[in-house]
Amino acid sequence: MEYTTLGNTGLTVSVAGLGCGGGSRLGQARGLSTADSVALVRVAMDLGVNYLDTATVYGTERIVGQAIKSVPRDEINVATKASIRKGMDLIPVADVIASLENSLRELDTDYVDVFQLHAVPPALYDRIRDEYAPALLREKEKGKLRHLGLTETPPNDPAGEMLIRASQDPVWEVVMLGFHMMHQVARRNCFPGTMEHGLGTVIMFVVRGIFSIPGRLEETMAGLAAEGKVPEWLGEADNPLGFLIYEDGGAKSIIDAAYRYARHEAGTDVILFGSGIEEHIRTNIGSILGAPLPEADVAKLEELFGHLEGVGLDLPLGGVFPAKAGIQSGDT
Ligand SMILES: NC(=O)c1ccc[n+]([C@@H]2O[C@H](COP(=O)([O-])OP(=O)(O)OC[C@H]3O[C@@H](n4cnc5c(N)ncnc54)[C@H](OP(=O)(O)O)[C@@H]3O)[C@@H](O)[C@H]2O)c1
Repeated sequence: MEYTTLGNTGLTVSVAGLGCGGGSRLGQARGLSTADSVALVRVAMDLGVNYLDTATVYGTERIVGQAIKSVPRDEINVATKASIRKGMDLIPVADVIASLENSLRELDTDYVDVFQLHAVPPALYDRIRDEYAPALLREKEKGKLRHLGLTETPPNDPAGEMLIRASQDPVWEVVMLGFHMMHQVARRNCFPGTMEHGLGTVIMFVVRGIFSIPGRLEETMAGLAAEGKVPEWLGEADNPLGFLIYEDGGAKSIIDAAYRYARHEAGTDVILFGSGIEEHIRTNIGSILGAPLPEADVAKLEELFGHLEGVGLDLPLGGVFPAKAGIQSGDT
């Protein structure tokens, strides 16, 4: 594993972070038992992953809590999140504090390393900063969280407007954002600010559905070509990103390309990968630790897709949220 420092937090974190939500939720989405999901987290931890990203709405905090029992608490970084809204209404600050308390109970721990307000849209940002952050800083003083952060909501904020502002506000220490080969907005809108101000960055949506669900990339590319947003040949190709795959330094697969691409972008600290399959956990960590994509390929991705905004930012499971986890569309 390779480790880095998460912005100015002082946390030493693995560059590969296990995402315990997304479409897989550690395999819970396809019916894995708790014990099997705990075992998957331990596979990642045995491979050196020390950053685990969960959230109240994922329904995986208890699994994470069980998995981390096998290591001293200070050897693992646990990040969780609280929802801030129900529908379009903000929930009261007291409920966010109660959510933190509940997370600590579920995780069976005294503190979380990173506590994030989940999926903050630009229109609610001022209130989140002015009303919610001060209350959470009081919880930080009590030792219940070590670092405060927030996550953007890429499907609702494809231009990353919320983080353009948040990265200028010193109250936040960690931000989570979407970035991938065909959604490169953060390179101009976010990373300059986070690097200048020392905010830690945790990257989501690196693969999501567009690069993992068969046919999704081709379908997306055909739509973009029809709108004149990408060259016609990309819309007609059976394997539009096939040019990235070759021997001697090229990618082994599209997913390998996606993780290597994000890992080596200046400004990214932790690359989240979400999976409920042990083999995927192993290969994804291998990709994140792989060499950068060849410069010419990175340049080609920028030339072809650098202008796009909001591509491939699908909700988990194609927009269908598992009701039992209480997930709302506002939480991604
Ligand atoms: N607003 C927010 O705060 C927010 C929103 C979204 C996500 N997140 C966080 O980000 C994490 C990552 O989520 P993501 O959706 O961006 O995940 P991802 O890493 O982009 O993966 C997306 C999907 O790809 C599949 N996959 C992974 N590796 C694969 C492989 N090697 N081959 C084939 N399929 C593979 C996985 O399903 P399999 O189970 O089949 O492997 C997974 O569900 C989440 O777990 C969550 O912690 C946060």
